[in-house]
Amino acid sequence: MPIEKVGVVGCGLMGSGIGQVAAQAGCQVTVREVSAELVDKGLKSIEKNLQRLVEKGALTAAQSGEVRGRLRGTTSLDDLRGCDLVIEAIIEQLPAKQELYGALDAICPKPTIFASNTSSISITEMAIVTQRPDRFLGLHFFNPVPVMKLVEVIRTIATDPKVFDEIVKFAERLGKTPVRTSDRTGFIVNRLLVPYLLDAVRALEEGVASIEDLDNSMKLGCGHPMGPLTLLDFVGLDTTYYIANVMFDEFREKRFAPPPLLKRMVLAGWNGRKAGRGFYDYSDPKNPKPMQLG
Ligand code: CAA
Repeated sequence: MPIEKVGVVGCGLMGSGIGQVAAQAGCQVTVREVSAELVDKGLKSIEKNLQRLVEKGALTAAQSGEVRGRLRGTTSLDDLRGCDLVIEAIIEQLPAKQELYGALDAICPKPTIFASNTSSISITEMAIVTQRPDRFLGLHFFNPVPVMKLVEVIRTIATDPKVFDEIVKFAERLGKTPVRTSDRTGFIVNRLLVPYLLDAVRALEEGVASIEDLDNSMKLGCGHPMGPLTLLDFVGLDTTYYIANVMFDEFREKRFAPPPLLKRMVLAGWNGRKAGRGFYDYSDPKNPKPMQLG
C-alpha cells in the first residue's frame, strides 16, 4: 500500500517543511499543533514558501493551489487516525515524545507507521512505549527541509525490514536522497558534524582565529555553504548543545563534550539567529556582525 495520507505532529521549522514536501509529492497531509495560533503560523510559513516557488517559476499558481489544498491543520490528535504514516517533529524532550507516542498508539490503527524526526533521541526509547515497535523508525530531515536533499532513515533492532524499505521509497518520492542507518545517537550526519562544530568553538576559545576568519576558512577553503560558527547560529546553539550532551552521555568521548564557551552562550540565551544573537549579532539580519565574546 503506497503512503497517501501523512500526519505531521509539530508544525514548527522542521514540521512545516516536512508537511510542505509531503504535500508537494502528492500526499494528503494533516499537520497538528497544540494551538490554533501555532497551526496558523505553520501553514502561513508553508504558504510563504510556496509563494516564493511560484515567484521563481518553480511552481505554477495552480500547482501551488493544489499543494495547499492537500494540506490541512488541526489541534486534535484524533484527526491523524486515518494516516498511513505519522511523522513527529515536536520538541526534543523524551518525556514529551513518549507521551505523544502513547496517545497516538491508542488513536491510530495497527498498520499506521510512526516516524520520528529526532536528531539525537534514541528511536528505541520512543518505540517501546507503543505496541508497534516493528512499525516505528527514524526519519531525520535537515534544515531548511525544502532545500536539503538528505534524509536519514533509521531502523531499530525491532523495525520490520519491509517497513524500513517502504519509508526509504517514501523519502525518494519526496525528492530526497535517503541514507540508511541504525539507532545510534547522532546517526550519520551529527556523528560527523557535531564534533566539527564543537571543534570550531574550541578553536575560537583557544584564539586560533577570529569568528569571521574561522568561518571564511571553511567556506572558501573547503567549499562549505556556511562556516561552522554561522552554521551553529543557523542550527541553534541550544539545539547543538543539547545534541552534544546526549552524544557525550552515550559515547563518553571528549569529542562530543560541549566546550565551556558554548555552554555560557546557551546560558546567556545567545542561541543564534532565532535569538537575534549568537556568534553573530543579527540586529540587521541581512548584515550580521561578529559578536565580541572576550
Ligand atoms: N526554505 C525554503 N527555501 C529556502 C530557505 C528556506 N528556509 N532558505 C533558502 N532557501 C532557498 C532559496 O530560495 C534559494 O533557492 P533558489 O536557489 O532556487 O533561488 C536557495 O535555497 C539558496 O538560498 P539563498 O541564495 O538565499 O542562500 P544560500 O545560497 O546561502 O543558501 C542555505 C541557503 C540553503 C541555507 C545554504 O546556506 C546551506 O546549505 N547552508 C547549510 C545548511 C545546513 O547545513 N543544514 C543542515 C543543518 S544540520 C540539521 O538540520 C540537522 C540537525 O540535526 C542539527
